[in-house]
Amino acid sequence: MPTAQPGIFAQGTRSHRHLEFDTNAGVAPGEVLDAMRGLRQPSVTAGGANIVVGFRPSLWNRLHPGTAGIDDFELPALDGLARTQHDVWVWTHGTGEDVMLDVARAVAAMLAPVASLQTDLAGFVYHDGRDLTGFIDGTENPPVEEANSVAVVPAGQPGAGGSFAITQRWIHDLARFHALPDDDQQRVFGRTKLDSVELDATAKPATAHIARVVIEEDGAELEIYRRSVPYGRVAELGLYFVAFSADHTRFEKMLRRMFGQAGDGLHDQLTDFSRPVSGSAYFVPSIEAMGDVFG
Ligand code: HEM
Repeated sequence: MPTAQPGIFAQGTRSHRHLEFDTNAGVAPGEVLDAMRGLRQPSVTAGGANIVVGFRPSLWNRLHPGTAGIDDFELPALDGLARTQHDVWVWTHGTGEDVMLDVARAVAAMLAPVASLQTDLAGFVYHDGRDLTGFIDGTENPPVEEANSVAVVPAGQPGAGGSFAITQRWIHDLARFHALPDDDQQRVFGRTKLDSVELDATAKPATAHIARVVIEEDGAELEIYRRSVPYGRVAELGLYFVAFSADHTRFEKMLRRMFGQAGDGLHDQLTDFSRPVSGSAYFVPSIEAMGDVFG
């Protein structure tokens, strides 16, 4: 079985950085590869940084032909959903912002001849893993021992060892959200604020966030593996949503239910208080597939 990029699962890192690049007009795939070869060099990974690299699915298919079906993966066109697809995504995370900045600068310098930097966002773990709304984010995330089967394409399938990912920058209206009494805030998420206990069926509205994103098919829950982090400054605060899945159709099913386009007339109350302003779909290849391409 090909090996997934280990940074997808690395835990305990409080400083994150997300970079997105667009390749310059007229640049051939081979030139992109030449520029990216250095990403595997120790000079960039020194200092204990995890580096995860994703590609626009159609770009990866050109670099590594034969990953059938991945071209179909893009963010769905839904009202309220921003789509700002870029070509290459580099996510670094580690224990300190200093090293993340060094890595980000090195990666950007390496790609500068072939691509331009479109996103440069620093994220962080907030207190005990809370979103800036104050709610714990990650309670129902698959535990490490299950995360691989949730996030990684299984052996024998096109793209085995790779992972489908989406990234979205959400901006919160925290003043509006925090003006709600705690009970109403809890109904927005469907969990208690202090300790993230799920509200019981009578107290949890059908429009609560977790009621919209928990989807069962054939008796099994559709799962994704989330690695989102808060980001911001006083004037603008939000969440950089990052999620991985072995099956990219799960994202569209969840997003349709969140954004009121699942045919049941309901939307996720969370979208009344936060809105995505960016959104991209990436394929994150296995270590072996990256090795095939980068040599
Ligand atoms: C502003 C954006 C978002 C915020 C602040 C947010 C926050 C949360 C919180 C607080 C929880 C409950 C605790 C937990 O289990 O982690 C949760 C659960 C979850 N969220 Fe989100 N979320 C956001 C966007 C999304 C999006 C875009 C998706 C899907 C595409 C998503 C999918 C999920 C899933 C699958 C769960 C677990 C549900 C369960 O199994 O109980 N979230 N989120």
